[in-house]
Amino acid sequence: MNKVLVVGSINMDLVAQVGHYPRLGETLLGSGFATYHGGKGANQAVAAARLGAQVTMIGRVGDDAFGRELTAGLQAEGINTDWVKTSPNTASGIAMITVSDSDNAIIVVPGANAHLSPADIEAAEAAFESADVVIAQLETPLASIEMAALLANRYGKPFILNPAPAMRLPVSLLDKVALLTPNEFELGMALGRPESEWQQALQQLPGKVLMTAGADGAWFTDAAGTLQQQTSFKVTPVDTTGAGDTFNGALAAFWDLGLSAASRMACAAGALSVTKAGAQSGMPTKAQLQAFLSEQGEAE
Ligand code: RIB
Ligand code: NA
Repeated sequence: MNKVLVVGSINMDLVAQVGHYPRLGETLLGSGFATYHGGKGANQAVAAARLGAQVTMIGRVGDDAFGRELTAGLQAEGINTDWVKTSPNTASGIAMITVSDSDNAIIVVPGANAHLSPADIEAAEAAFESADVVIAQLETPLASIEMAALLANRYGKPFILNPAPAMRLPVSLLDKVALLTPNEFELGMALGRPESEWQQALQQLPGKVLMTAGADGAWFTDAAGTLQQQTSFKVTPVDTTGAGDTFNGALAAFWDLGLSAASRMACAAGALSVTKAGAQSGMPTKAQLQAFLSEQGEAE
């Protein structure tokens, strides 16, 4: 399995269940509440670790109870947290998630994630040297991501960028990416093209973009620019939070298999992840993934 280095966010997800959304000024009684470990970076790290990858995480938490719990959670998954630093007098990142029967609404407050600096990344240079693949998202400052891309390039390690939340990416960063993994909306935002042109956007960077498409699986191009689809697997969704992160973590874990085989594993892992509440609860182990694939008639 690959040695995966994850650079990114670590959040506590505070999830309230409601029947409908409150109007401004309204007080509404919800029907349930739970906290889950989350953050796109941490989610990707846990997804890769469950699948058997050797994972190191670079990130920041606050000096509060959430920060201690989140770091312990990563360690319990076997993730190396030597480069997860604590920011003094700072709250840990949180996501306030309101889930109704038909929708969800999310407010992310970055807290300590906003303190992840280029110097933090440089301090962990040795982790880049020993990694097989590096993956990052966009919930920590862009300067930290640019430094991670630079160091990955310096050591010749593939740099996967999951450009979420959506934003326009500088060309200097795009140039350093081995694979960009947006959804349809993020793809348009990242490359500054209308969403309807997603096929042309994929072909603009042949072999370097994989677009996730939820229940429709994923689309990517080969080096010649020919469009390929990896179809997904049918499951009954309970909570889709973190499905994209599971996909990305799995993709990094199985990077050495090549895009076609790795994306099949990633689709299966993402599908399994939505069958349980919370971002990380449904992420499969390698044995669970293999059992699921053989049930689907795809012995691995
Ligand atoms: O991608 C899902 C994640 O986004 C959640 O765990 C939440 O923390 C937000 O960062
Ligand atoms: Na889930």
